[in-house]
Amino acid sequence: MHRFLSICLLMLIPLAFQANTPAVSTANSIVPKPISVKVKTGTFTINDQTSLVISQGNKEMQRIARFFADQLHLAGGPDLKVVEATGAEKSSNVILLSIGTGKTDAPSEGYRLKVSPHQVKITAESGAGLFYGIQSLLQLMPAEVYKPASSGTVKSWSISCVEISDHPRYPYRGMHLDVSRHFFPASFVKRYIDLIAMYKMNRFHWHLTDDNGWRIEIKKYPKLMQTAAWHVDHEDLPWNERPAGQTGEKANYGGYYTQDEVRDIVQYAADRYITIIPEIEMPAHSVEVLAAYPQFSCTGGPFKVPTGSYWPNLDILCAGNDSVFTFMEDVLTEVIALFPSQYIHIGGDEADKTNWKSCPRCQARIKAEGLKDEKELQSYFIKRIEKFIVSKNRKIIGWDEILEGGLAPEATVMSWRGVEGGIAAARMGHDAIMTPGSYCYFDHYQADPASEPKAIGGFTTLKKVYSYEPTPGELTKEEARHILGAQGNLWTEFIQTPAHAEYMAVPRMIALSEVVWSPKSSRNWLDFRHRMKEQFRRLKFMNVNYSKGSFRVAVNTAVDRKEKMIKLVLDSEQPDVPLHYTLDGNDVKTGSPLYTAPVNITKNGIVKAGLFPDGQLQEKGVETPLIYHLAIGKSVSYASPFSYRYPAAGESALTDGLRATIDHQDGLWQGFLGNDLDVVIDLGEEILVNSVQMNFLQNQKSWIFLPTVVEYSLSSDGKKYHSFNEVPNTISPKIDQVFMQPFNFQFMTRTRARYVHVKAKNPGKCPAWHEGAGEPCWIFTDEIVVF
Ligand code: ACM
Ligand code: ZN
Repeated sequence: MHRFLSICLLMLIPLAFQANTPAVSTANSIVPKPISVKVKTGTFTINDQTSLVISQGNKEMQRIARFFADQLHLAGGPDLKVVEATGAEKSSNVILLSIGTGKTDAPSEGYRLKVSPHQVKITAESGAGLFYGIQSLLQLMPAEVYKPASSGTVKSWSISCVEISDHPRYPYRGMHLDVSRHFFPASFVKRYIDLIAMYKMNRFHWHLTDDNGWRIEIKKYPKLMQTAAWHVDHEDLPWNERPAGQTGEKANYGGYYTQDEVRDIVQYAADRYITIIPEIEMPAHSVEVLAAYPQFSCTGGPFKVPTGSYWPNLDILCAGNDSVFTFMEDVLTEVIALFPSQYIHIGGDEADKTNWKSCPRCQARIKAEGLKDEKELQSYFIKRIEKFIVSKNRKIIGWDEILEGGLAPEATVMSWRGVEGGIAAARMGHDAIMTPGSYCYFDHYQADPASEPKAIGGFTTLKKVYSYEPTPGELTKEEARHILGAQGNLWTEFIQTPAHAEYMAVPRMIALSEVVWSPKSSRNWLDFRHRMKEQFRRLKFMNVNYSKGSFRVAVNTAVDRKEKMIKLVLDSEQPDVPLHYTLDGNDVKTGSPLYTAPVNITKNGIVKAGLFPDGQLQEKGVETPLIYHLAIGKSVSYASPFSYRYPAAGESALTDGLRATIDHQDGLWQGFLGNDLDVVIDLGEEILVNSVQMNFLQNQKSWIFLPTVVEYSLSSDGKKYHSFNEVPNTISPKIDQVFMQPFNFQFMTRTRARYVHVKAKNPGKCPAWHEGAGEPCWIFTDEIVVF
């Protein structure tokens, strides 16, 4: 009945009303996408008579209202009055704010926002919810609300009427910044916080200490500021080629935040509903501490603060020396006094235990505590620190290495080496925050490396970030509750300036903000790209040095079941840039066919495609061989899964007709980590099969090996298999060039079959001579070609 009624009402809306609707509404451009947005007719106008109404004597609401009013005033708009409700105030031309009435049914960080012609109403159950309502209200206003006032004064702003109801999907929505590898001024940290707040994220993980510099004032240990915070300036040299500082050379690159600055930033963040989680690294990534206090090492030193790359992480804090724990507890006491965060991040990653193996004190500790090995010694270290932190009513977070040797009883795990750490933690009943490298490391390349500033590696496009699903599918509902959310990490080895940090963080952090805020069901890449156009206008006014993103074309195929055709599907991150392609081997030019819709494919070819903003090919065009064969578009079932790190096109990757290039990161290789490829292709009906052809990649420096054997067999019913054959590998795994190896098989006669079973045996573990000895190795393939 409800629905029927609203349809009737809709039909009754007079046409004249609709004419009042402004041509441009930003209600459908909000990022992260709200749960529900209902655009209404009419507009509300903010002018110098508009007031913000808050509850009597409520300082928090006062601050939130001022946040909004100040933003408008900074943009040259009227300076709105904030008034306390008396019951007698006007009901027209007002923005009514309310918190905690218990009547809004909005969850704790949620809000309801209603814009009608005479008033705006934002209701929430908490200050955070109200603040997010204000952020959405700013997004409903024209982009010029972010334009500095120097460009003139604005008499009034119009907002189209709308009703929004919204709350976040995950409680932990984070961004990280490494201020050790390069030092960033306090002013930039605040600007970074502004961006985090603008997109309704609520955690800032401040990576304050690492090998290249200690960045927080600790009163009890002055040498941290005098020595550990500085290194010899080799900023002009590439990160991996910087010489160590020499005795007598002035250590003049670096800096640290004073405790006053830290308090100021903590408050600044809190006013924007962002909790700052400080990270103090231990036991590794701490050679800068040893440069100041060599007595905390296993070897005695001396040490210098590294000017660039420091790897492997050999010189780490001695776990056998009680004064190391006294030092850390003293440091943490000052840190805890500065940061109200429930969580203190204690690092725990990438500790090379070589020195512990030969240190008499570390070995004595292992013996005295009855520990098995150095992994358990690390666990002892973390557990001892956890005990101290818990005694101060706080909790630890550590990188996923803290799982090794036994997890501290109340620890939360930050899963960065993939998602396995998060899965393991959740299964043990511990909370986890997901930050897997291949989706959440924003120090990776985001577009063609050939046209980008030097980055640490990887290839994590905006689209890839947007596709991230933080809750691993293999968890039960109960276990999944432990996935608190996700975080984007900005490590700064290759990021020297604030402008470059913005370039790497934005817009990928905005994609992640939607991943962690919006319902999974509303995720829509096409829609997101269109909403981002409005966001870019705002970011431009804010002078944010955002990345223009990847101009690389993504090549896919799809089956059109209705037309019974295989279609070539091209896609990019750039919604309005002309995309041209060829299939005949000719280079792509502006005169080549313009891509407007999926294209029928009926034969082999080479897909060449590129984006042409301003008539010029941007980045290298893609070039992908396309094989038209019997299994193209046919369904594949997997007995063992491909890795989420190298999914290529997922379950359609092995029959999409697309072959990969020599680059294992080209997005066309499907990877299997430690397990076999074991699949069955259903050809849909019995047909004559002559041969099966597959390529595998060898790139042993990237731990990718050929399968030991590939087995093929055929079946009519999917139960009884015959024509069993195998193609063994005869190539040495030691060859260190990168190459593709065919594993082709031709059946004696053309054989009728509906099902093709393929099994490629993974060698399992990297061989003994390899740097990854004993660790799971990869096999990579791109297509199962059936003729
Ligand atoms: C990390 O990236 N070492 C946590
Ligand atoms: Zn030691």
